Amino acid sequence: MKDKIESLRRELEQHNYNYYVLSSPSISDFEYDTKMHELEALEAQYPEFFDQDSPTSRVGNDLSEGFEQAAHIYPMLSLGNTYSLGEVQDFYERVRKALNDDFELVCELKYDGTSISLTYENGRLVRAVTRGDGEKGDVVTANVKTIRSIPLRLHGNFPAQFEIRGEVLLPWAVFDALNKEREEQEEQLFANPRNAASGTLKLQNSSVVAKRKLDAYFYYLLGENLPAENHAENLNAARSWGFKVSEAIQICKTIEEVSDFINYWDNERKNLPVATDGIVLKVNSLAQQKNLGFTSKSPRWAIAYKFQAEKALTKLNSVSYQVGRTGAVTPVANLDPVQLSGTVVKRATLHNADIIEALDLYLDDMVYVEKGGEIIPKITAVEKNERKANGKKVEFIKNCPECGAELVRFEGEVAYFCPNDNTCPPQIKGRMEHFVSRKAMNIDGLGNETINLLYQNKLLHNIADIYELKISDLIRLERLGAKSADNIQTGIEKSKNVPFERVVFALGIRFVGETIAKKLAQAFKTIEALEQASQEELVAVDEIGERIAQSVIQYFADSRNVELITRLKSYGLQMCLSDNKLETKSTILNDLSIVISGTFSIHSRDEYKTLIEMNGGKNIGSVSAKTSFILAGENMGPEKLKKAKNLGIRLVNEVEFLSMIRTEKAPSMRNENFQQGSLF
Ligand code: IVH
Repeated sequence: MKDKIESLRRELEQHNYNYYVLSSPSISDFEYDTKMHELEALEAQYPEFFDQDSPTSRVGNDLSEGFEQAAHIYPMLSLGNTYSLGEVQDFYERVRKALNDDFELVCELKYDGTSISLTYENGRLVRAVTRGDGEKGDVVTANVKTIRSIPLRLHGNFPAQFEIRGEVLLPWAVFDALNKEREEQEEQLFANPRNAASGTLKLQNSSVVAKRKLDAYFYYLLGENLPAENHAENLNAARSWGFKVSEAIQICKTIEEVSDFINYWDNERKNLPVATDGIVLKVNSLAQQKNLGFTSKSPRWAIAYKFQAEKALTKLNSVSYQVGRTGAVTPVANLDPVQLSGTVVKRATLHNADIIEALDLYLDDMVYVEKGGEIIPKITAVEKNERKANGKKVEFIKNCPECGAELVRFEGEVAYFCPNDNTCPPQIKGRMEHFVSRKAMNIDGLGNETINLLYQNKLLHNIADIYELKISDLIRLERLGAKSADNIQTGIEKSKNVPFERVVFALGIRFVGETIAKKLAQAFKTIEALEQASQEELVAVDEIGERIAQSVIQYFADSRNVELITRLKSYGLQMCLSDNKLETKSTILNDLSIVISGTFSIHSRDEYKTLIEMNGGKNIGSVSAKTSFILAGENMGPEKLKKAKNLGIRLVNEVEFLSMIRTEKAPSMRNENFQQGSLF
């Protein structure tokens, strides 16, 4: 039995590591909890094998370096949990027997985020502390203050001092957008909103936290002078003081009512904006709670019922490997199609080589696929009983599947990389796709398929070649009509006005995402200054660490990149901070009355207003015979368009307008053919 206990301990330690360190859980919560329960039962049965370092002795721990710590006045305990209605019934019976009186249970949703304890004094938030090891946690007040739904000052009749506990969450929509952005940057994706929320709360820079749009729901009030004698009324009071307390709360007297609540929310929770993973049942009366008390780990007056994550068993046919624009290689499992949470799943992510190793995967294995809280399905376990003899173990590839180069693994990184950034096709195409993408140069019409076509036809080898494309080249290509070719040309020409910070982002320097690109552009102002920046100068910029600085230096140390930038400069891309351009002053628009209409992609409406005024013009609201011309964006209103047409007023698009003030060439007022002025 000692061996069995030891092996369970080792197995659970490994899963802890996968979950907390790699942020890539390799088994489901259900399986983890089942194994933990099994170990707890065995340890209780065989106390002679006690080990103070057993995984059962941990209450989890989210303590990080760099944060001050504070002791919890009331320890932050966990909840006993179960996946079976039978055990919920057992809990109900236990409580009934212990109290020997009538009682009410409050049913609530179990929010799947990261827990937080807030202290309020005289109606003001004074401290926010994470759970930590249950006894003490990290003080994350500055970060928590950025969460808009958390009140900093309370209304109404609140106790002078109290604590309130709740869950910090990243709503699904924010999580999806964040992961999409990380995918574009080829950064490791967050496995689920819970990891994303706890990671965000531990960021050292609270302005980054603020941008992540966290939310928080509260479910537990503690203190000496609480307003009511029962939990439900205390929550109502907290709601009235300004806290976000879920409305999905029900007082139940019978186990049937509890079961109805569970069944209803097991389905309905899919429509909620945030992740939930179960139901929490709490004895309502505080006096009865006190009566029941606590075990060393959890209250006897509450229990969590956890929903089963939907999973399916299917066959692993093969593993393929995707190479991204930075050369990172991601393994993907190809599966026999299987129905899961309403969709057919054929592929699942395997994250990285460590995960494949931890799963001990063989080809043709029957594997469990889960969607749970994640958007991308993942393999959580192998059904080893069904493994065929002489199967082939899945070994992470040694060479790039696209170009054959030997893969490398950098110290401290989980991913393998193809080092051949020069000729490996998906890396080249990936860089071009990134360059033209919406948040970078925003070149309309140049989608992934077209880039592939142009690359195959040897018209594009690198990002600078985009500016050498000719309409005739484009038209010559199969599948590309004259209209699309024209569209691409317009998009390319427009991109020459894209501000410097987006050009820096578009270059695709490793670890330089949108925000970092902006910081670099603002700090160094010109591409030449950025190119010459030293490690010290780079790390002196807010949010730039050693890793990013090193990557920027490496980028400019490569003569091919420098040559690329020289070419981009020669095509007229913005290689210095656009503020300089906004400072352009002239008299070229003197005496002209200009109407701004539609939506713009290079500058905002307000910026155009400023530009008009700085160059001597007057911005007017409505079209009349006195209007000199209309600065016309996309989707101009039909009324204005009609009026302009009737009065013969010229439409000038933003590219024309910017070139007008750059070259200081007075606009012609003649309206030749009444087309949204195109330069091509
Ligand atoms: S009550 C002593 N209520 O679940 C009881 N917890 O496994 C304190 N959680 O650490 C917790 N939703 O992070 C409570 N409605 C809810 C909850 C909830 C989510 C989390 C919380 C706690 C964990 C327990």
